[in-house]
Amino acid sequence: MKIDILTLFPNMFDGVFQESILKRALDEKKVEINLINFRDYTEDPHHKVDDTPFGGGAGMLLMCQPIFDCVEAIKTEDSVVILLTPDGVPYQQKTAFELSHKKHIILICGHYEGFDERIRSICDREISIGDYVLTGGEVPAMVLVDSITRLLPGVIKEESYLEDSFNENYLLDYPNYTKPRVFRGMEVPEVLVSGDHEKIEAWRREESIKKTQERRPDLLSK
Ligand code: ADE
Repeated sequence: MKIDILTLFPNMFDGVFQESILKRALDEKKVEINLINFRDYTEDPHHKVDDTPFGGGAGMLLMCQPIFDCVEAIKTEDSVVILLTPDGVPYQQKTAFELSHKKHIILICGHYEGFDERIRSICDREISIGDYVLTGGEVPAMVLVDSITRLLPGVIKEESYLEDSFNENYLLDYPNYTKPRVFRGMEVPEVLVSGDHEKIEAWRREESIKKTQERRPDLLSK
């Protein structure tokens, strides 16, 4: 899979791709990630990429030309163009699964007050990572890259993500424990050290349902 990230601030991504699972996936060529500064595509003599909104109002808007030209230069018939925006479709684990099967993803990170509405016309999807407003689409792009990359074949063990919360079963994860058996008086539930795998399975499922009922009853109705 190839992911192209269109951003005015490529340095914001320093570090994120240089550690842990994402670094390994990049080193092993499970994913290719390119940071593309769309300022390089501006035709403006002063390298301008934004301007004031028609009709007035606060802030600056990203202009069409640099982003259109950049997308047109890198897009192929295998590409999915995604705009990151707080008014997009809420991002979910099932979206990450779906996107993990694509060959080429282009992520457009907005910044400043917003962007010219016509930029939406070159996007296949618009995604929001939550009901809050960030300074730009860079952090949301990191969220997508991380959540998609871990689902690519050979990046992590399949069983690791099949049991994740928010998979098709819509149950939150059950509680997990590691050594020691007792820590500051808090004990690991007896069933987990019983060696009885059927009982452990049943306990985990029950705990998952209980936690989902308490914390996210909206998921159970799905
Ligand atoms: N840009 C700014 N806020 C955002 C959000 N919540 N999701 C996606 N892109 C954004």
